[in-house]
Amino acid sequence: MKNDVNRQWVVADAAGGNGLGLTRDQFEYRETAVPEIGDGEMLVRSVYFSCDPMNHAWVKGLEERFKAIPIGDPMCGGVAGRVVKSRHPDFRPGDAVTGFMEFADYVATGPMDRTGTALQRIPDGFDLASGLATLGMNGLCAYFGMGDFGHVKPGDTVVVSGAAGAIGSVAGQLARLSGARVIGIAGGPRKCALLTGDLGFDAAIDYKAEDVPSRMAALCPDGIDVFFDNVGGAILDAALANMAHGGRIVICGGIATYNSPGPGLQNHMALAMRACTMSGFFFFDYIARFGEGVKRLGTLLKSGKIKEVLDVADGFDAYPDAALGQFEGRNTGKQLVRIADDPGR
Ligand SMILES: NC(=O)c1ccc[n+]([C@@H]2O[C@H](COP(=O)([O-])OP(=O)(O)OC[C@H]3O[C@@H](n4cnc5c(N)ncnc54)[C@H](OP(=O)(O)O)[C@@H]3O)[C@@H](O)[C@H]2O)c1
Repeated sequence: MKNDVNRQWVVADAAGGNGLGLTRDQFEYRETAVPEIGDGEMLVRSVYFSCDPMNHAWVKGLEERFKAIPIGDPMCGGVAGRVVKSRHPDFRPGDAVTGFMEFADYVATGPMDRTGTALQRIPDGFDLASGLATLGMNGLCAYFGMGDFGHVKPGDTVVVSGAAGAIGSVAGQLARLSGARVIGIAGGPRKCALLTGDLGFDAAIDYKAEDVPSRMAALCPDGIDVFFDNVGGAILDAALANMAHGGRIVICGGIATYNSPGPGLQNHMALAMRACTMSGFFFFDYIARFGEGVKRLGTLLKSGKIKEVLDVADGFDAYPDAALGQFEGRNTGKQLVRIADDPGR
């Protein structure tokens, strides 16, 4: 690639796909010039793009939260990169930053990203990839969701869906550190073996090969104290049927319902009969506490008490397929796309 070419992924069309789902032809490759920066701006060299199931929310818009990206504008999402030029007094070349920005080689930005959130600095000693994974939206969702809504106590039985994914893998490890017995739900024997092996979960349910309600009942004879849900649909319904009295359901995501909503929940009256709570949370409501979460997760990551699972696709062209692959379970852990070498400090 020549240094004066800025590759971009552009939103070509927002009409395809079912529901909020995306299709490959909604992304278009474009080359432009590297942007100039003005006073108060910096030029960031992107190194990693983050693939997130909520990418569709950027393309199609999400009521009350995100406006749809106009057709022909660059696709946006989580980016980790290095400042390579700066005309902002607080940022210097070599600073490692993350933020929600254009999916391009180079981005001209002020200190706020495209959501109006301050660019986050990746703490010294951590790779740029960790800035998007454990120290970014995924680790933080696990930390705030499990901490503020799970209220895990030693001896609790905690079940995590989407457990071999970016958020689920951290959520389950955090629950174990709080003294819980943790069961992960994931698709396929390889992911289940990762959970009960490297990640230290107590048991795993392969939802593609096993009957989830009966496996939950067998593994949780006294009921589920905390269900941390990334998936929704039938798996959430099975958890509702197996909750313990006073149990807490934490709604982080519902990937099973994004492309087709499904029939709806049948077992919701368990919330009343067993005095359970079901609470949801949204990452962007926690901006004021990002620092607290990054500090805690950074300490745990550095000490080896939590393990980071990365799934890195190489090359700029890999983005659309890597993003869509999340809906087929092709990723294990955090799906990233590495588009360039880290230029370093
Ligand atoms: N609340 C918030 O602020 C917030 C912020 C970010 C993300 N989220 C949500 O959190 C969830 C997890 O996000 P993530 O980034 O960590 O993604 P991820 O878990 O790394 O990737 C998605 C995984 O979902 C599983 N999956 C896909 N389709 C499924 C289906 N129909 N039924 C069951 N499982 C399915 C796949 O794993 P298997 O192989 O196991 O099927 C896939 O690997 C998503 O729902 C996302 O939208 C919420």
